[in-house]
Amino acid sequence: MKNLKAIMEKMDLRDKLCEISQLYGKLETAEDGRVFMGINYRFDSDRFMDDNIGSLLGVSGAKALIEIQKKHLEKSKHKIPLIFMHDIIHGYKTIFPSPLALSCSWQPELARKSSRIAAKESAVSGLHLTFAPMADLAVDARWGRVVETSGEDVYLNSLFSRAYVEGFQGNDVKDSFSIASCVKHFAAYGLAIAGKEYNTTEASEYNLRENHFPSYKSALDAGAKMVMTSFNALNGVPASGNKWLLQDILRKEMGFAGVVISDCTAIVEMINHGYCEDSAGACQKALEAGVDIEMVSITYFKEAEKLIEDGRLDSKLIDNAVMNVLKLKEELGLFENPFKDADEELEREVVLCKEHRDYARETARESIVLLKNDGVLPLSKGTQKVAVIGPVANSRQMLDVWFAYGEEKDCATLYEAIQNDYGVRYAKGVGILTENKKEIGEALELAKSSDIIILALGEAPLMSGESGSRSNINLPGFQEKFADEIFALGKKVIVVLYNGRPLAIPALNEKANAIIEAWLPGTEGNNALRDIIVGDYSPSARLATSFPYNVGQCPICYNRYNTGRPPKNEMKPARFSAGYVDCGVTPLFPFGYGLTYTTFEYSGLKISADKMTRTDTLTVSCMITNMGTREGIEVAQLYIRDMAGSLIRPIRMLKGFERVSLKPNESRLVTFEIDNEMLKFNTMDNGYCSENGKFRVFIAENAHDTNFVEFTLV
Ligand code: BGC
Repeated sequence: MKNLKAIMEKMDLRDKLCEISQLYGKLETAEDGRVFMGINYRFDSDRFMDDNIGSLLGVSGAKALIEIQKKHLEKSKHKIPLIFMHDIIHGYKTIFPSPLALSCSWQPELARKSSRIAAKESAVSGLHLTFAPMADLAVDARWGRVVETSGEDVYLNSLFSRAYVEGFQGNDVKDSFSIASCVKHFAAYGLAIAGKEYNTTEASEYNLRENHFPSYKSALDAGAKMVMTSFNALNGVPASGNKWLLQDILRKEMGFAGVVISDCTAIVEMINHGYCEDSAGACQKALEAGVDIEMVSITYFKEAEKLIEDGRLDSKLIDNAVMNVLKLKEELGLFENPFKDADEELEREVVLCKEHRDYARETARESIVLLKNDGVLPLSKGTQKVAVIGPVANSRQMLDVWFAYGEEKDCATLYEAIQNDYGVRYAKGVGILTENKKEIGEALELAKSSDIIILALGEAPLMSGESGSRSNINLPGFQEKFADEIFALGKKVIVVLYNGRPLAIPALNEKANAIIEAWLPGTEGNNALRDIIVGDYSPSARLATSFPYNVGQCPICYNRYNTGRPPKNEMKPARFSAGYVDCGVTPLFPFGYGLTYTTFEYSGLKISADKMTRTDTLTVSCMITNMGTREGIEVAQLYIRDMAGSLIRPIRMLKGFERVSLKPNESRLVTFEIDNEMLKFNTMDNGYCSENGKFRVFIAENAHDTNFVEFTLV
């Protein structure tokens, strides 16, 4: 145990300001030949800062990090080890499906295990902390970062946030192969108005408490060591200067005692927000709000000294921030072993090893959603005259923008993955955004001479992720037009979609024989797809986010409010009922939706009593039967609707689910328990309680099923 106070006492103000600053860790050479630790010379930093910086981001590899740490310890005044941080979002080099895809597995266990693997690969490569999980909720499919979320539902999102943290951190961040986890982006970044990246957000406290805060809290309850502020202004105040968010909610209410870091340059960006006039103001607001580490912009280093001299800033704020950072270094065990798990030999052995790749294949299989199937799938092995066509048919772009150290060269293409199973030929047809008459002609010729066409379409990875917002969520470019030419040939067409966000694809849904949503499935994604296409594995994933008919329906979420004039016919709202004159109010594919290679029947929904007190537990049950000829997994979903409250309540909320595997003709009774805790909500007077009255309970295949039973809370 280090005496952190004693270290602090030896530090002067400039040392402390370095300790709470973070720079990119790339070694760069400036024009005058000086070698810098980061990109900081662009922000006119100086050598002293480089030598005494507290943490670095964005650099990895055991050799490099051991060397950087050694040099740092030689040069820095107080020999305080660096923390190396990086975005290890869904894998280090073995890349798992993007978080939105993984959440469609409805198996938080997969997030736990895949982040355990990611932690191991990262740790042996020298990293100490990951900027994950992202606990922001997916609200609007236009927003590029929905790909990084665990979907639109607060309950599912909270389970996944927790699982990611448990996976990264293990039992103790000090242990071998554990890394610390930073939950982000606090808060409500997903509410970016109109899905426009970095946009301002407005939300009632009711909405924040009901839908947005719980998944960050869940990560904190799992022990996340760090919280990252978000880029957005929330209700008029940028998150990095938002005292209410960072003090009242995060520190006091949620009880967070770890480190708060700003998002990248988010502190200096408060000037652009119009919240501060200059970088001194930004520095002051961020420190007063309680941001401990400033990422990449360096207002703390440049401005804090003068602010203190002028009596505008309390130096205790800096001491608090430094102490938080030192404590984290202590928790990671860096004072005893500044290199932690960095080990070149192990790195060679562990990173992208077969065991990890196999697990990536398993997670991808569990994340791929079957959206439509008229019986063409699974496609028997040995089928001849199969054509695989489209911009993604022979592409290795299986990784989203947060691929860390993953490489496309390690991903098989779909064409390669199914080559041993079918007599298959390939043509590109169109690009994701481009068209070429000759290539279209070749693809149509190939399609004509084939019996089955696998049409691989989608978005380029850069069309989602940070800065990947779109104003239109159709298939990009000429793909839809090209697909129409293929459909016109009258062949059987299986569409495979590769995309980061929900797409608006009603026409495709009408014409295709089958649609498989592959998402951005990671290193082993196409091998997993192969397993599903040939039927070695029956798909079991369910959408964690709704797929709208068109962009005009966004934001669309299953747990909406009813309004005073709910339409009787949700597909065709009548005049003067809530909806559109040109479109229904339901999505094309609802939350919770997904098919498999069999079908299920739900029957005999019943509840143990029609009255409940706050100490009771009711049981609700229903029989599920596999009606098909293949074994399959059903995800039975429990939804509850509070029929009236002191604040209006959503038309339903997910409260539980169970995956049930059933053989042909097999039936199983699925039961859920309902207790008072599940009925609570954030009431008007800042309370969190249940209210007497009627509740509806659904055990459903997806958020649209209408079969319910009722009870009254007394
Ligand atoms: C992103 C964060 C990320 C950070 C560091 C920012 O641009 O918003 O999610 O963790 O960069 O890479």
